[in-house]
Amino acid sequence: MIHNSSNESMLKKNAEFIVQQGKGILAADESPSSIVKRFQSIGVENTAEQRRIYRQILFTTPNIQQYISGIIMHEETFNQSNDSSISFPMMLTQNGILPGIKLDRGLESLTINTNETITLGFDDLEKRCEDFFTRGARFAKWRCVLRINQTKNQPTQVAILNNAIILARYASICQAKGLVPIIEPEVILDGDHDIYTCQYVTEKVLAATFKALSDYNVYLEGCLLKPNMITPGHEAKKKVKSSDIALATITTLSRTCPPALAGIVFLSGGQSEEDATMNLNQMNKLIYQQKCPWVLTFSFGRALQASALKAWGGKRENESNAQHSFLKRAIANSSASRGEYDGKNISNEAKKNLHIVEHNY
Ligand code: 13P
Repeated sequence: MIHNSSNESMLKKNAEFIVQQGKGILAADESPSSIVKRFQSIGVENTAEQRRIYRQILFTTPNIQQYISGIIMHEETFNQSNDSSISFPMMLTQNGILPGIKLDRGLESLTINTNETITLGFDDLEKRCEDFFTRGARFAKWRCVLRINQTKNQPTQVAILNNAIILARYASICQAKGLVPIIEPEVILDGDHDIYTCQYVTEKVLAATFKALSDYNVYLEGCLLKPNMITPGHEAKKKVKSSDIALATITTLSRTCPPALAGIVFLSGGQSEEDATMNLNQMNKLIYQQKCPWVLTFSFGRALQASALKAWGGKRENESNAQHSFLKRAIANSSASRGEYDGKNISNEAKKNLHIVEHNY
């Protein structure tokens, strides 16, 4: 494929905008069915209007654009508007935040009788990219899931290769239509494996992913990677320090990711808000000593929203408290993206584990 150079300069500019110093992404793209557990936990009915109100609270948080450069939305949210009938993508653009769209349509079994998966969403992908671009989207997300099960030798090579090719194909379509693709091959936290196993598997997954991106001629300077951090499984007996997670994660990235990549935006994966921030901070402290040519920042869902959701509780009178909680986490993660987070004044809410087994988006 010959790259279209005007597309390339726009893709590079937008990717670099997203990872500009001290900023990161809010992943607010939970589907109507996956947000149900979170709404249930605070006693809020899961209706389209409640979801709109909740997203409006986050998106209109005063000064949030100083810390958040992009917001990923589900199609439903992308089509919704604020109380003044301005569409969310338009409102975000006016506020200096790039609108993003989740393009994948969930998971399906890779083969019969396996819990390994591939990700759906190719049916009308080109048309959807064109449509979302016209309506203001400038970047996109697609999540693939890899599970570690050592007894079953999973993830299998078949799962790794299929998901790598799916991500590369999605990325090449996005770029042809002007959207910066976020590539998310998530090795999920489920399981009792140790940190070394997570590192080994993630290295294999990322190496296969970048080989596929090269085969599909994806323009790396206009592309972002959204990886998991390298941690032990959620049920692992031995817990590890933030500094070990940071070193294992940076080692994994330096072994697999080309320097041309525009940036790395981590998912939080079910870690507590505080753990996700601390780990990001440790990485950015280490970055100067390690071979690490990319910006390392955040694209958190749960780890940016948990305290805000709790503070809101579905009540109008709590909206500014919710915004305050959200802003606090955004500021903390902004500091962590510069390696300057001090970890002071942590609420108990921010320490709560946010892991959900077989989590869907
Ligand atoms: P978490 O930070 O909650 O893992 O979500 C990020 C995301 O976008 C997953 O697709």
